Amino acid sequence: MPDPLPQCYLNGEYLALRDARISPLDRGFLFGDSVYEVLPVFGGRMFLFREHFDRLARSLREIRLENPHTHEQWRGILDQLIALNGGGSDSYIYVQVSRGMEYGRNHAFPAVVKPTVFVMASPMPVFTDEQRATGLSAITLEDFRWGRCDIKSTSLLANVLMKQQAADAGASEALIVRDGQVLEGSSSSVFIVKGGVLITPPNSHRILPGTTRDAALSLATNVMPIEIRSIALEELRAADEVWISAATRDVLPVTRVDGAPIGSGRPGPAWLRMADSFLQLRQQLADTPADTPGR
Ligand code: PDD
Repeated sequence: MPDPLPQCYLNGEYLALRDARISPLDRGFLFGDSVYEVLPVFGGRMFLFREHFDRLARSLREIRLENPHTHEQWRGILDQLIALNGGGSDSYIYVQVSRGMEYGRNHAFPAVVKPTVFVMASPMPVFTDEQRATGLSAITLEDFRWGRCDIKSTSLLANVLMKQQAADAGASEALIVRDGQVLEGSSSSVFIVKGGVLITPPNSHRILPGTTRDAALSLATNVMPIEIRSIALEELRAADEVWISAATRDVLPVTRVDGAPIGSGRPGPAWLRMADSFLQLRQQLADTPADTPGR
C-alpha cells in the first residue's frame, strides 16, 4: 500500500516510516515509560510549537528524563521532517521520547539512559461538513486512569479502552467523570457553554493541560465571559453547548451525550463563532512568513 507521508525521524536519522525499527527491550514498549506530543501543522506551518514543546519539556521533567533537545533543535527536526514529507499539507506531527532500552527488564531506571526519540507526520483527520453540521456524540464514563493525567504519557490503556467503549456505542468521544465532575475527554479537553458563559475545568493532576483549550480560551477572551471551574455531570447534561478540543480536532461541538441532546441538539452559536475564530487563526498562520520565531 503506498504510504502518503513516508518519512519519519528516529534517533538522529530520517528514514522511511516502514523501515523504522525499535528494540522490543525499549522501555516505552515494556513499561509505557515514555511521553509524547501531537502538534498540528496547517499548510506546512506548525501551530502552537512553543506550547507543545513546553509541555513536552514539562512531561519529561515530571518523569525525570532529560530533554534530549532544545526547542530550537526540536524545531529543526520538525522543519526538516515536514519538508521531507512534501511541505504544504495539513498534517499532525507525533513526537515520542522513551527512556530507551537496556538488556533485562528492571522497573527502576537504567544506569545509563539513551532515550529513544521518534517523530512522524500523519495526515490530519478530516471532519466532514456533515459532522460539523450535526455535531458529535459522546458518552460519559467513570475515570479509572492513574493519578498523573497531567503528564502526556504513552501509558494510554485506560484512554484506549474508554475510546473503544465510546466507539462501541457509536459515539466519537468518552467524557471522563470523577466524583461527579466532568474532567476531559479520552483524548480531548472539554468545555460547556451555559447562559453565554464558557466554562472549562481547571488544570490539575487529573487533566492534561490542553494546548487547544488554552488557544480557545485566548480566542474567547473579550468575546464571552469565561469561568475556569469544575463542571458537575448534571451541568454538562443541562448545558446549552458542549465542546471538545484537541490538536487534531481544534474545537468541535458535542450535540448528544449518553444519547440525549445537548441544548437544541445542533451545534450552537458560541461554537460557530469559535470555529470561525480558529479558521481565522489558521489563515493568519498560513500568511505568516516561515521563519517567524515562535510560529
Ligand atoms: N490528545 N486531554 C487528553 C487526555 C488528550 O489526550 C488530549 C490530546 C487533550 C487535548 O490536548 P491538546 O489540545 O494539547 O491536543 C486533552 C492528543 C491529540 C492525542 O493523544 O492524540
